[in-house]
Amino acid sequence: MKASLQFLIFSLLVGGLAWATYVAAATAIVGDPVLGADDPILGSKHDFTGLNDRAGVVAMSGVAFSDYGYSCVYCHIPPEEAGAVPADFGGIDGWNRYVPALGNYRLYDSINLDNKTSGPNPISMLCLSCHDGTMAVDMVLFKPATFDPTQDNAMHMRINPEDNIESCGKCHNGQVAHDITAKMLGTDLRNDHPISMKYAGLTFKDADFRPPDNPNGFSNGVKLYNGQVECMTCHNVHDPSRELLLRANAEVLCFTCHAK
Ligand code: HEC
Ligand code: HEC
Ligand code: HEC
Ligand code: HEC
Ligand code: HEC
Repeated sequence: MKASLQFLIFSLLVGGLAWATYVAAATAIVGDPVLGADDPILGSKHDFTGLNDRAGVVAMSGVAFSDYGYSCVYCHIPPEEAGAVPADFGGIDGWNRYVPALGNYRLYDSINLDNKTSGPNPISMLCLSCHDGTMAVDMVLFKPATFDPTQDNAMHMRINPEDNIESCGKCHNGQVAHDITAKMLGTDLRNDHPISMKYAGLTFKDADFRPPDNPNGFSNGVKLYNGQVECMTCHNVHDPSRELLLRANAEVLCFTCHAK
């Protein structure tokens, strides 16, 4: 980024919304022509393309983060890179994002656990790669071929409530924009639900847990991944129909698995 532009953006950031009128509006929302162009994820919180238009602020897409013009590539490997091995680039197996610093995680543990976790599996690493607040939301392995890197003027911000130009908290502080604190799980996962461990109800041995209805989990949509509990077990980023992207309403979610 040119120094003068960087300074301008910085001054505008300090001024918060004052810069909203400066940056040109992003292009229309586009899905992935190969993966699908009418996915319900479009227009949801995980669709970064066109966020400026939706939020009514011209200060995010292309500035706080790169707008790749492809809503899907913030998680999925773009079609033109199909067959690439993410591990060769430090990426998460199967996803278009870098492996977070796994050694920093403090995982949930308790003497009561039937099955312990040795660390997050790839599908939960995907979520943590944004939600632990350490990596920018636009930090992807492969940018789509249609994106011109010389046009990259973004600040590459993280989901982090800190007040600095690397953090969405610069604006998302509850004043300029909604508070982003709750969206960051951080790296200390001990006060979150345990993840990436085998589901205790699988073997029918622990009466505190209900047996699953089918190999994929439960008939209400709560999903197991290879018999394990992951972030996507309770949430579904592809289905924004329920609050907080939950797979079941809060009253029934816990009792889907916990028998008491
Ligand atoms: C925030 C991350 C994220 C974004 C953005 C995202 N997806 Fe996904 N997608 C996922 C996850 C996680 C799964 C795995 C779901 C599962 O296996 O239960 C998935 C699964 C899929 C699947 C099913 C693949 C399979 O092997 O079963 C398709 C198709 C898909 N996504 C298409 C898209 C399209 C099209 C877009 C853009 C319009 C998109 N996704 C954007 C996270 C994302
Ligand atoms: C997909 C099934 C599933 C769902 C849904 C679920 N849990 Fe769990 N929960 C588990 C499993 C499996 C464990 C780990 C148990 C073990 O291995 O002993 C666990 C552990 C816990 C623990 C730690 C218990 C301990 O012994 O340390 C708490 C607390 C908890 N769950 C609360 C909840 C709450 C609250 C909800 C609803 C928001 C919920 N769970 C939804 C499967 C589930
Ligand atoms: C590319 C970055 C990125 C990835 C990867 C990502 N998220 Fe998010 N997520 C976000 C952003 C940005 C928000 C919106 C934050 C806000 O509203 O302030 C969000 C919001 C959420 C919310 C709250 C939704 C709401 O209505 O407020 C949940 C739940 C969530 N994500 C779960 C997940 C899960 C589960 C995964 C993994 C499958 C995931 N996220 C992967 C960036 C990401
Ligand atoms: C220059 C200030 C500014 C910065 C920096 C900024 N935002 Fe925003 N954002 C806003 C404003 C203003 C809104 C609209 C009001 C609201 O939702 O709080 C908004 C709304 C949103 C929404 C809600 C959009 C919807 O569809 O409901 C999400 C999600 C979001 N921002 C994510 C982010 C993420 C992630 C970052 C950092 C990568 C970020 N923002 C950085 C100002 C900013
Ligand atoms: C056992 C079910 C379960 C699992 C597993 C789970 N969540 Fe959640 N999550 C919930 C529930 C219930 C809420 C809403 C209540 C709350 O905030 O605790 C929630 C809230 C959230 C929120 C929004 C917080 C807010 O108030 O806006 C985010 C972001 C989120 N989860 C991300 C994740 C990520 C990332 C993972 C994996 C590391 C994960 N969740 C694993 C059940 C779960």
